[in-house]
Amino acid sequence: MVSIIVAIAQNGTIGDKNSLLWHIKEDMRFFRTTTSGHAVIMGRKTFESLGSKPLPKRTNIVITRAEREFEGALTAHSLDEAIRMAAGDEEIFVIGGAQIYAEALKVADRMYITRVERDYAGDTSFPEIDYTQWQLTHSERHERGEEFEYPFEFQTYDRV
Ligand SMILES: NC(=O)c1ccc[n+]([C@@H]2O[C@H](COP(=O)([O-])OP(=O)(O)OC[C@H]3O[C@@H](n4cnc5c(N)ncnc54)[C@H](OP(=O)(O)O)[C@@H]3O)[C@@H](O)[C@H]2O)c1
Repeated sequence: MVSIIVAIAQNGTIGDKNSLLWHIKEDMRFFRTTTSGHAVIMGRKTFESLGSKPLPKRTNIVITRAEREFEGALTAHSLDEAIRMAAGDEEIFVIGGAQIYAEALKVADRMYITRVERDYAGDTSFPEIDYTQWQLTHSERHERGEEFEYPFEFQTYDRV
């Protein structure tokens, strides 16, 4: 199974200047516990946004058009190749960014979306979702985080 995992602002933004727009402890924890022990697939820019360091306890796969290697991660030249490299993992996570999500939306079986209920100005947005293809199967709303003062909701969508 291929799953997308992403946090999206109310106005669709997911990042700015190759970094995240918010810091929500609860969401970081959700991301870590959900993806730990699995393969995580990301675009070259997202890998760089993580400080060019692999996420621990996960098989990191970086997608690039270039002939290059990344310390602590496997290199793939397409999403298909990355998914093939992760074969054997029962849940493979596509962790961004926008370019890779756009590809993954065509093939993913599930999406874990954290809705951040606030607008953020940013240069990167999640691609348009065709909701006729997806069914909301789980949601958990938080009025605020321990430190984050706005509401957010953890949602799971499965492909219909
Ligand atoms: N809110 C969230 O949950 C979340 C999650 C992840 C990332 N983000 C944010 O998203 C932003 C980064 O997203 P992005 O869209 O700019 O970049 P990205 O998708 O992370 O990476 C883009 C790079 O991936 C490679 N690539 C893309 N399509 C490819 C293809 N078909 N074949 C081979 N390689 C391909 C290219 O690398 P080369 O140029 O090396 O060829 C391209 O420059 C950052 O702001 C980050 O913080 C947010």
